[in-house]
Amino acid sequence: MPSGVRSKTRSGLLSWRSRPHAGSPPSSPPRSIPGTPRTSSKGCASIGPTRGLTGNEAAIALDLPPQIAPRLRWEIEKAGWLMLGYELAPGVHPDLSPGSPHLERVRDLVIEIGEQLTPCPEAAKYALAERWAGAPGWAELRDRRPDDLDLWARDHVDALAESEARVCLDGDTLAHVDLHPGNILVGEGHSVAVDWAWSARGPAWLDSAYLVVRLVNEGHSPKQAETWALDIPAFSAAPDHVLTAFAVRLSGMWECIARSPKARSHARRLADTARQWARYRLA
Ligand SMILES: Nc1ncnc2c1ncn2[C@@H]1O[C@H](COP(=O)(O)OP(=O)(O)OP(=O)(O)O)[C@@H](O)[C@H]1O
Ligand SMILES: [Mg+2]
Repeated sequence: MPSGVRSKTRSGLLSWRSRPHAGSPPSSPPRSIPGTPRTSSKGCASIGPTRGLTGNEAAIALDLPPQIAPRLRWEIEKAGWLMLGYELAPGVHPDLSPGSPHLERVRDLVIEIGEQLTPCPEAAKYALAERWAGAPGWAELRDRRPDDLDLWARDHVDALAESEARVCLDGDTLAHVDLHPGNILVGEGHSVAVDWAWSARGPAWLDSAYLVVRLVNEGHSPKQAETWALDIPAFSAAPDHVLTAFAVRLSGMWECIARSPKARSHARRLADTARQWARYRLA
């Protein structure tokens, strides 16, 4: 970040756009912030590959109630940077391993997110069904047949490609779409989710299904992880075939992401975990 923007962000003296909370009047005049608010700030270059994500996060921030997300205090676009400043949320990143006391807290948060964000706020810019429509998955792997593909996946790649094609991501909930321990803060009172950059309109069960993969990643069996999720009304109401097609689609997409030269270090493990869940559901 250029030093000019950094120092102004710290001192809080920039002219800023006041962000009213949901339910308050639609707009407030720009004003200056005296003093330094206790904020967690993040940003991106105004022109660049992550502008869409941060812009998406800014677009829906006012529709996120404080029960589920920290309040957005300010938004600054200046000197080639878009910066967002959030109220600092107390809490720790949850431990999702078996037996953790955080499991119940995270489940409560997922239930609250589903209740608060259904129907989906109008401000949502993206629909998950559209975002995933062109993403590569098992169909591409079936055609390419990479030598190092997992043996079970190689033997079942035709069925996997057929199953992923049946995925249905329609819905009227604003799903977080990236709920993992790093994006959750469990506080003394309530817990919140940060980093809504990937959020999109989708099915009500989506965040719980993502967390099933994260639980398996932390040592739960797929059955244990699903048992945890069954206490979430949206997950227990989701038809079996819908969850199966999702598990297969997610695993194929992550398998392709893990094979990309730009893959982050944890991508391989997540792809393997998602495949483990898909395999369990197809058995
Ligand atoms: N409002 C907040 N209060 C307290 N901590 C926060 C807040 N927002 C973010 N954080 C902390 O900062 C970290 C990074 O924030 P965030 O996930 O929004 O940024 P990011 O740029 O998307 O990072 P990443 O790529 O690691 O996900 C979070 O994992 C969390 O620990
Ligand atoms: Mg994050």
